[in-house]
Amino acid sequence: MIHQPPVHFLGKTLTGQPVQKQVRKLKDLDNIFLDQAAFSAADMNRVVYEVFSYLPVDEGTEGGLFFGMTHLYPGTVGQEFYMTKGHFHTIENRAEYYWCVEGEGMLLMMDKHRNTWAEQMQPGSLHYIDGYTAHRVANTGGGILSFGACWPSDAGHDYATIVKNGFSRRLLSVEGKPALV
Ligand code: 6PG
Ligand code: NI
Repeated sequence: MIHQPPVHFLGKTLTGQPVQKQVRKLKDLDNIFLDQAAFSAADMNRVVYEVFSYLPVDEGTEGGLFFGMTHLYPGTVGQEFYMTKGHFHTIENRAEYYWCVEGEGMLLMMDKHRNTWAEQMQPGSLHYIDGYTAHRVANTGGGILSFGACWPSDAGHDYATIVKNGFSRRLLSVEGKPALV
């Protein structure tokens, strides 16, 4: 049987395989944003992003690949742009590709020594995320930011390290422009 990945997000693959939909609301992003007062004042049911994932093999399978399309909505919490939770992979050496199909954003990456840097995302931009590297995306534009992702099916997600220690630099909106501080 031939598996065809979703081209954009169709809700299912062309051969009819279901795509998993995950919705992340503000309430799922506790301890992610700097400005706790602004966070507490916001609507916790506000959808920040949705991820449509095609998982053709079982999670944890060695040698397989997963495909995901993330739609990150525009917005801010205090001075910070809406962003993904961010994670290292549980199997730390597992790498990943991101590529932007729509919108404007920044991909933040942080290595194990807590060095943080960013790559600008724009339609067509391709981003290689090496192993041992935490990754998070912020929407710096006025519209939706959509990006595809491809990662190994045994990579897993370590969110706890980021919830606890964060990234060493934050992307703030300074006079409407993104600044990594
Ligand atoms: C992954 C990918 C990607 C990511 C989403 C949402 O490893 O699965 O990096 O699909 O999960 O963009 O970001 P968070 O997983 O950090 O919430
Ligand atoms: Ni990942």
